[in-house]
Amino acid sequence: MPAKFSLALMLFLMFNGCRQKVATPSATDMVEAHRPLYHFTPDSMWMNDPNGLVYHDGEYHLFYQYYPDSTVWGPMHWGHAVSRDLMHWEDLPIALYPDSLGLIFSGSCVIDSANTSGFGQRSMVAIFTHHHMGREKAGDTTFQYQSIAWSEDKGRTFKKYSGNPVIANPGIRDFRDPKVSWDHIHKQWVLILAAYDKAMIYTSPDLIHWQESSTFGIPGDTRLWECPDLFPMTVKGSGQTKWVLMVSIQKLAPNGGTATSYFVGDFDGKKFIANPKDQKWLDYGKDNYAFVTWSNLPGPFIRGIGWMSNWQYAQAVPTKKWRSAMTLPRDLTLQKINGSYVLSSMPTAEVFDVFEPAASMAMLSDKPVQIPEACYLDVKWVPGASEEKISIFNQQGDTLIIGCQRQENRIFVDRTKAGESSFSKDFAGKHYGVLPVWRDTLSLRIFLDVASLEVFANNGECSMTEIFFPATPLNMLQTGTSAQNMSVGFRKLK
Ligand code: FRU
Repeated sequence: MPAKFSLALMLFLMFNGCRQKVATPSATDMVEAHRPLYHFTPDSMWMNDPNGLVYHDGEYHLFYQYYPDSTVWGPMHWGHAVSRDLMHWEDLPIALYPDSLGLIFSGSCVIDSANTSGFGQRSMVAIFTHHHMGREKAGDTTFQYQSIAWSEDKGRTFKKYSGNPVIANPGIRDFRDPKVSWDHIHKQWVLILAAYDKAMIYTSPDLIHWQESSTFGIPGDTRLWECPDLFPMTVKGSGQTKWVLMVSIQKLAPNGGTATSYFVGDFDGKKFIANPKDQKWLDYGKDNYAFVTWSNLPGPFIRGIGWMSNWQYAQAVPTKKWRSAMTLPRDLTLQKINGSYVLSSMPTAEVFDVFEPAASMAMLSDKPVQIPEACYLDVKWVPGASEEKISIFNQQGDTLIIGCQRQENRIFVDRTKAGESSFSKDFAGKHYGVLPVWRDTLSLRIFLDVASLEVFANNGECSMTEIFFPATPLNMLQTGTSAQNMSVGFRKLK
């Protein structure tokens, strides 16, 4: 290769192709304000939902809603990154651009191992919503419909299907976010999408011809649904199979605004059956939306990722070059607690691997101790008082409080005074997460990453994801009055 080309290539790769996430602590000075060190962020500009999550030939693909021209939402593309361990991400060029049928809204990807579509053995097929702005402006309500594209080079380039759309709009204004999976049980492709205040299920033999099968919603509840997902899970300890319908809700989540919920039920190949009143929350924090799962995984686990923001203020948060991050990748577990199904989420093993072995901190006094701005805290706690807390703060007095209330059976994250919040009246606040059961020792695994916190209580039986924007990183920790009832181990990034 001629020298001038190799230099150009090197520079291109340095700035575009080989950006690996998970910064080392020594690199923190180089990092922009509020840029996380071990969560996925786009290098620049606007990002929302994770899309097209698929595992293929050793790579986890993360496509995402992306607007390359601004740090606020705009005409949507699919951005693209790949990783072998879900933690170190390589940015790839934009995968799908808007076209004459519309913008590229959220959707999913599958591997067509048996070539049911005829696009090629093991082709990667993307199923997404086309959103036609012209039609929307003209007052035509059928401006969202489902289309497909396929890739024969591991997601690097896609060809859009000439017969798009493959699912026409049936007269529903909000009709989007198709999530497709191969249903091993009924030997068919299953597609679930959000149709205003409910989910619609379609089935297909070939990813091209879709048959409408059923709908599921909460009678009388007209909140907007987005980004649904549907998958079978084995109930821990019983071997029983249940189906989980996950869906993000655009309004009135437990702590306000948007969040990801789920229902546990059965699926007979056509219809999802569950008690529609039994809606539960995957994460009680304010910042875990559009959580969806990877398809084609190499093992019997269910793993997914969410968008770490909330539509109440996502476009106004004070980051400059880029806007928003993804949550940590998580494994889901379904279990029965006190007769009720609970979907727990915990960071995948790869997340734990980016941290050094535990360093124990004896919290025998309530004096502040220094912690890195990006770390993992493992807390074992036997709370005595009715409300107890841990504070994480900086020298300016920005303080984030994590606590529990035994009588109310809940944990909380209070970000009221954790930094900048003037950008939205809906941001500051104390937010609660309900524990499905109180356990004598409360285990909290806390992942702090510069401008975000993910708390997993009792192996993820309750989780809370919250973002915050302190003047300088929060790097001190102090327990409340009952420090003798608590042990804290902490790990920094390797
Ligand atoms: C959810 C959502 C989806 C839509 C996409 C547009 O956050 O509103 O329903 O497809 O974002 O960017």
